[in-house]
Amino acid sequence: LSYLGHKKDLQQKKILITAGGTREPIDPVRYIGNRSSGKMGYAIAKAAVERGAEVTLVTGPTVLAAPVGVKVIAIETTEQMRLAVLAAFPDTDIVIKAAAVADYRPTETAPQKIKKTDDTLTLILQKNPDILKELGGLKKPNQLLIGFAAETHELLTYARQKLVQKNLDMIVANDVTAPGAGFNSDTNIVKLLYRNGSSEELPQMEKDKLAHVLLDRICSFV
Ligand code: CTP
Ligand code: CA
Repeated sequence: LSYLGHKKDLQQKKILITAGGTREPIDPVRYIGNRSSGKMGYAIAKAAVERGAEVTLVTGPTVLAAPVGVKVIAIETTEQMRLAVLAAFPDTDIVIKAAAVADYRPTETAPQKIKKTDDTLTLILQKNPDILKELGGLKKPNQLLIGFAAETHELLTYARQKLVQKNLDMIVANDVTAPGAGFNSDTNIVKLLYRNGSSEELPQMEKDKLAHVLLDRICSFV
């Protein structure tokens, strides 16, 4: 019943959220992955439902339970995430891309388990498509695109570049090395950068609380 306490300012809005990390198979038992826990994306999905939105969550594998009332599309690879996101996008008002997408995938997936025969093993990787950038190219004036930037250095420079290059309305800039921020933490410390060049520094807060602050900002655009 927690949702009863929230303002219903996202009623009638269709929101597409991506969460977790994608995985790229090396062979039937191994993959390339990353440290994303999915917590931030799941918190946003829950908050959006509480505020009356119709929420689709495209998620990589996580240990988290899906929030009640969310339509979940479970994927593993970046290409699966891309296809799910592109299919939902035309009928979406707001996209929030919290997922940590694998930037590269093995050029080939071995059909059988690779045996440890050699002392070294070389994997050749191919760059994955940038899903958010693709959405930036397809975006209609009535659609909002929100991205995340996970950085370890030069946070604002890289985040600003991503905002512009991917045609976003807002980017959530996240120094993933800061204590109390980033992967698997229950709290996060972020800066918000907007299309008009302005920015806002938020204090450390629980991801559940941050989810609502992000939606407050998004509601102020719609
Ligand atoms: N993203 C995406 N598709 C990719 C890579 C990233 O949609 N193939 C999205 C992420 O979900 C995130 C944003 O783009 O919202 C930024 O991701 P990030 O990894 O910080 O930036 P990249 O553009 O991948 O650049 P780099 O990893 O080199 O910093
Ligand atoms: Ca990346």
